[in-house]
Amino acid sequence: MLIKTILAIETSCDETSASVLQVNPRGEPRANLKVKVLSSVVYSQVLTHRKTQGVVPEVAAREHSVKIIPVIKKALLDAQIVLKQSSLSRKEFISKHIDYIAVTTNPGLFGSLMVGVETAKTLSYLYNKPIIPVNHIHGHLASVLTEKLTSQTGLDKKAQKVLFPMITLTVSGGHTNLVLSKKLGDYQIVGKTLDDAAGEAFDKIAKMLDLDYPGGVEVARIADQYQQEVVSSKYYVLSEDKRIPHNISPIIHNTDFNFPRPVLHSHDFNFSFSGLKTAVYYQLRKMDKRCIKIMQGYICYEAQKAIVEVLVAKTLKAAEKYQVKTVGLAGGVASNFFLRKKLKFKIKNLKLKIALSVAPKELCTDNATMIALSAGIDLYLGRNIKSWERVVASSN
Ligand code: KG4
Ligand code: ZN
Repeated sequence: MLIKTILAIETSCDETSASVLQVNPRGEPRANLKVKVLSSVVYSQVLTHRKTQGVVPEVAAREHSVKIIPVIKKALLDAQIVLKQSSLSRKEFISKHIDYIAVTTNPGLFGSLMVGVETAKTLSYLYNKPIIPVNHIHGHLASVLTEKLTSQTGLDKKAQKVLFPMITLTVSGGHTNLVLSKKLGDYQIVGKTLDDAAGEAFDKIAKMLDLDYPGGVEVARIADQYQQEVVSSKYYVLSEDKRIPHNISPIIHNTDFNFPRPVLHSHDFNFSFSGLKTAVYYQLRKMDKRCIKIMQGYICYEAQKAIVEVLVAKTLKAAEKYQVKTVGLAGGVASNFFLRKKLKFKIKNLKLKIALSVAPKELCTDNATMIALSAGIDLYLGRNIKSWERVVASSN
């Protein structure tokens, strides 16, 4: 079988990542798409951005420029080991074994994207390898197909018929989209956020609560812990008693925060999370610091519930309207346990028989493997192969 090898680069936000992946290109055999991930390296800038409690674009771009070459070198070395080609120099390996360079070109932070794109273009020029430019969202969408693409049988025509049409919720710090795919490689946005992304809402609520960066993970952790304590009935009732232990999350009687579920009942598939963020802000303004600390678990739990409820409801509504066979879930927020659980439960209880396909946890937050997967799909479909002169970074 004729196999092609892709070196992929991702630098759209605050992860510097490179990955090497093998794919059977178009026609080999024609009806089957199968991939093998040879390496996947992700350098996260999270510790840098913790100092400012958020990504400063200029700082992110500078850090990408420092890390990009070491990250690519490591991805190549790991791939060489898998392919038993360690005796080759890195240059020889690229010349002999890499066929295409894939890179995230948009959307994202412009300075960050530029680092990846210019590196990819330089490699393309030096080694005479074509570029496959990849839309970052398409990368997240491709990550949902990981299990199928890497399976023994791959994604053959029969499997594609079972899978599509598919609706995928891509939910992260920068975007919240519902994307309809009628077939492999077809992407139609049917819903998007009108303001903040879901991950952004998680992060902003975390900031208001003075939680560690990145906030989404912390809000989820505290919310899940609170839920477990409630489920196992280890709760205390908040009363006039100011001596309630700080380490125990109380259930608050007669206190219903009733956070809004924005645009839950609108007739489209769009989302909005800025109202929720504002509601949390006004709620917190009514409370003193100690009370916020005591009720932190409850606040995180209620906020997570509000976000997840809207995400799940809109996804299922779109799934029913477009009569899909599969619901996909991808992006940073897709690693949220409560969201995964709720979506699974609701889909199971639908009258329609719909499958759920979730991106593997390690491919939920930004990474180059999902970019390589998307490029693999393009290669299989025989499209989007460019010379370096025609590749540009764009923030949109
Ligand atoms: O996909 P991603 O790495 O970057 C973007 O493309 O934006 O997603 C990062 C986002 C952040 O907002 C982060 O707080 C959120 O995903 N996130 C989570 C969880 N893990 C990451 N949000 C809620 N629950 C989680 N477990
Ligand atoms: Zn992303």
